[in-house]
This record gives sequence, C-alpha cells and structure tokens, in this order.
Amino acid sequence: MNYLTNEKLLIVGAGGMIGSNMAQTAIMMKLTPNICLYDPYLPGLTGVAEELLHCGFEGLNLTYTDNIAEALKDAKYIVSSGGAARKAGMTREDLLKGNALIAEEFGKNVKKYAPDCKHIVVIFNPADITGLITLLYSGLPATGVSTLAALDSTRLRNELAKYFKIPADEIINSRTYGGHGEQMAVYASTTTVNGKPLAELIETGVIPEKDWAEIQAKVTQGGKAIIDLRGRSSFQSPAYLSIEMIAAAMGGPAFKWPAGVYVNDNHFQHIMMAMETTIDKNGVHYTDVKGTPAEDAALQKSYEHLCHLRDEVIEMGVLPPISEWGKINPNLA
Ligand SMILES: NC(=O)c1ccc[n+]([C@@H]2O[C@H](COP(=O)([O-])OP(=O)(O)OC[C@H]3O[C@@H](n4cnc5c(N)ncnc54)[C@H](O)[C@@H]3O)[C@@H](O)[C@H]2O)c1
Repeated sequence: MNYLTNEKLLIVGAGGMIGSNMAQTAIMMKLTPNICLYDPYLPGLTGVAEELLHCGFEGLNLTYTDNIAEALKDAKYIVSSGGAARKAGMTREDLLKGNALIAEEFGKNVKKYAPDCKHIVVIFNPADITGLITLLYSGLPATGVSTLAALDSTRLRNELAKYFKIPADEIINSRTYGGHGEQMAVYASTTTVNGKPLAELIETGVIPEKDWAEIQAKVTQGGKAIIDLRGRSSFQSPAYLSIEMIAAAMGGPAFKWPAGVYVNDNHFQHIMMAMETTIDKNGVHYTDVKGTPAEDAALQKSYEHLCHLRDEVIEMGVLPPISEWGKINPNLA
C-alpha cells in the first residue's frame, strides 16, 4: 500500500457527521494506515468505527477511543470537528460559548498529550475563534494550526458556475477572505470566469451589480441553505476539504483554497481568519490580500467583527487578555 506517511492521524469528533466522513475520506485517500478516532460519545464512535471496519479496507490500522489521552498519544496530525453543530435559525456565532470551552480543553489536551503534533485543522464553529483558542492553548507555532474556511470560496465557485451555466473548472481562483461567519469578504478581483476577469464582467454590466450582490449573499448564506435543504448542517464538503488540508500538511498535494490562519502583522492583529495561504510540510503560511478598495474595506469590516467575537471570548474568561497570550504560548509573544 502506498501511504503518504505512517504517522498517526487523529480525528476528533469522529462519532459525528463531519468526523465520520473525514475518517472515510482519509482512509480512501491513503494518507496513513494509522488512523485513530476519538469522540466522547462512545456509542456513536463505536458505530462509526464498526462501519469503517465493515468496509473491508486493506492495510488499515484503525483504532478508536473515548479516552483523550490515549487518542492524542503520538498523534502527529489532528483534524477536529468535535463540537456542537448549528441548528436551523442559529448562526455560527451562536455556538460561541460552548464550542469555545471545548476548544480550550482540546488545546490544553494537545499541549499535555501531543506536544509534538505537527498540524491541526480546526473545523468546529465558529472556526476562526475555536481555532484561535486551540492555537493559544496547544502551545503550537502559528503555522501549526489552520481552520476550515475554504467552503466559502468553493461555494462562490459553485454560484458563479451556476450563474454562467459553465463547468466549475472554468471559474478560477474564486476567493473569500476574513471571517468564516456571515461577515466574510467575498472578492471579485481574484477570479476569472472562462478566462475573463470577474471584476470586469461586473464593471461592464455583464453581471449586473444586483446579480453580483445576490451571488455574494448566496455565498455568505451557503451554510444556512444546506441546513434548509437537509435539515442539518453540511458535512460532506467540510469533511472533504479538511482532509485535503491535512493531506497537504502531511506532504500531499498543495491545498488550493484559502485557509484560516493566525494573522498578526501591520494590518491585522492577534486574529485567526482566512487569507491567501499555502499549506505544506512546514504548516500554514499566508500572504497579504490585495483587492479593490471596496473589497479591502469589506475585509477590514470582517476583521473587526472577528475582533469583537474574540473580545467577547476574552470577556467570558475563556481567552486571557492579549497581553498575556505570550505567557501561555510563547510562539504568539
Ligand atoms: N468550518 C466549516 O466550514 C464547518 C462547516 C460545517 C460544520 N462545521 C462545524 O463542525 C462541527 C461538527 O459538525 P457535525 O455536523 O459533524 O456535528 P455532529 O453533531 O454530527 O458531530 C459533532 C461530534 O462532536 C462530538 N463532541 C461533542 N463534544 C466534544 C468534545 N468536547 N470533544 C470532542 N468531540 C466532541 C459529538 O459527540 C459529536 O459526535 C460543528 O461545530 C459545525 O458547526 C464547520
């Protein structure tokens, strides 16, 4: 069997919908034979593990446990969707408090039981905030934690493909940046549609402003649309994209979409949000985003919204004041 690595991959929240789909995807993509599943809900976890074992995969060393110390032992790569999911009528931010506490515990457990972990992909929402909390408490370098934000960019590609009635492959470099909540910044200037710049198509009225605004709204409401259709939060697409992210960190093919990353520079401080990123064996890295003045203003607004959420979590006492972060994780000093 040709695996990318033999190092241990841990899937946290594996008893849930995203977790179980991540497990199956990781096995089918042959990332590593050594996959461990963790979930505090043992019946669900056992059911997922049994189903995967019933697939009859060859060469697989699948383990599962509801003991977090055992799960994290020797884990070099971790993906976590372990937390509550959004129900109808809820925003990602409504999940804030409960999942923030889960992220704190998760980060502390990583520090205790898997300090040599090489990369974590955080999926549970609001991912920008749970990722930030995980990064702080895990003690990992900023390059060691990324969050799933790509779904917004893939949804933009899908909306444009439907609008123009062309294959999605002809939409290149569709991008959203900033928060993964409804205050994300949906860019036009990065994208080409069948070779033509999307910004030009909007400027020249090929796409009327009103239609572009509708496309943007469909992207920001993309998660809600799936809840309305299926009666539950999306799981196939987040599972697939998260495993593509961790595969890139494990030395696999480059990840093509923006990821959430810790940002601290002249423009944006002490925040986790989607930027133009690369993920490879050295972790996640970002470059500055440069759009039109209106796009960059939208990104600034999205950043401010995230700062507000982060400050709420500081007020809750889950995160300490920023001035103390360096004491908990010297990599963030
Ligand atoms: N970032 C994204 O793009 C994106 C997209 C969709 C969903 N999500 C989020 O992913 C998360 C998981 O969604 P789902 O559909 O798989 O939900 P789910 O309810 O099917 O599964 C969540 C699993 O997490 C487990 N869990 C609960 N507390 C835990 C803890 N403390 N530690 C570890 N595991 C714990 C539960 O037992 C459950 O099995 C939700 O927060 C959802 O909002 C993110």
